[in-house]
Amino acid sequence: MTDTHPDPLYRPLPDGVVPAEVIARTEKRWLAVMVGILILMMAVIVVTGMTHAVHPPSNVETIEPVTLHLGGEFAESNLGTAQERDGSLTVRLVAGQYGFTPDCTKVAVDTPVRFRLTSIDVVHGFLLPLTNVNTMVVPGFVAEVHTRFTRPGVYRMPCNEFCGPGHHGMWARVSVVPKEEFPALAATERSRCVQQ
Ligand code: CUA
Repeated sequence: MTDTHPDPLYRPLPDGVVPAEVIARTEKRWLAVMVGILILMMAVIVVTGMTHAVHPPSNVETIEPVTLHLGGEFAESNLGTAQERDGSLTVRLVAGQYGFTPDCTKVAVDTPVRFRLTSIDVVHGFLLPLTNVNTMVVPGFVAEVHTRFTRPGVYRMPCNEFCGPGHHGMWARVSVVPKEEFPALAATERSRCVQQ
């Protein structure tokens, strides 16, 4: 190989120019890294979905946001915690700029809890940190999440979808009480928490 070879491909490369085969090899390695990351992310989604019961918001149930307060399950008298025949609990909440109604509900520990939420205005978020509960609350739809609290205590419930200038102040609470305390609570006490 000399600088005077008739075919320019056979002349030595000037300093700083990376040969084509080196570029091809590097590109293949990065491609392998990218495919590896994709496989890892898919695996994380499948494994967490199956082992931690992370529920994507998949139920499609529609509701008319303008009239939901007039009757039906989201009328004011039906909001809060209700006990089902099988002993499980259903908590119904309505989200709106900038609060949840009711702003505190009580549930029993070690009991299946079903949350049903909807929004009267814009998209809000429903998150209970350190649990599997995390869903969007979209106007026109009912979001449903199932969980079971293993420890008593007060769980803060921040809205985690930006919903306007008051978003940062939008949050509520779920108070998880010992199992033996719950039946003694009157229906009205289940849907409000008196400050002590
Ligand atoms: Cu509601 Cu952010």
